[in-house]
Amino acid sequence: MASFTLNGRAVSLDAEPDTPLLWVIRDEANLTGTKYGCGIGMCGACTVHIGGQAVRSCITPVSAVEGETITTIEGLDPNGAHPVQVAWRELQVPQCGYCQSGQIMQAAAVLKEKPDLTDAEIDQLMTGNLCRCMTYTRIRAAVRKAADAMKGV
Ligand code: FES
Ligand code: FES
Repeated sequence: MASFTLNGRAVSLDAEPDTPLLWVIRDEANLTGTKYGCGIGMCGACTVHIGGQAVRSCITPVSAVEGETITTIEGLDPNGAHPVQVAWRELQVPQCGYCQSGQIMQAAAVLKEKPDLTDAEIDQLMTGNLCRCMTYTRIRAAVRKAADAMKGV
């Protein structure tokens, strides 16, 4: 049994300690917005927040998150109104969409830490999130737009 806070709710879910958090989120909590890409921490599709930090859930055993606060794409904002989500919609970032929840979760965590980013810093901080549809130009523009909104520019 694993107990933690998931999107603002205390949960206790049935899982072996070494089960990757990704599968607990998807199969036990039935939150399928978090995606499986590589399973080895190399693509970012499975990114969630643990204690506000962007973490790859595919390589995080559920035993490591006991008592932690976890946010998935479903919990980022109840109305999809987080500045990153707004920017993503306005700039129509997604193509197939598969990588995008991970991209958004990475961007949201990065901007919370430091909203005042250069384009080079955006590229560097987003570099671990791969997109097979090559939406990188729109991703950078959307992170910039969200950053400006979060700074009130
Ligand atoms: S599925 Fe986790 S980093 Fe690729
Ligand atoms: S939008 Fe298709 S993989 Fe990124």
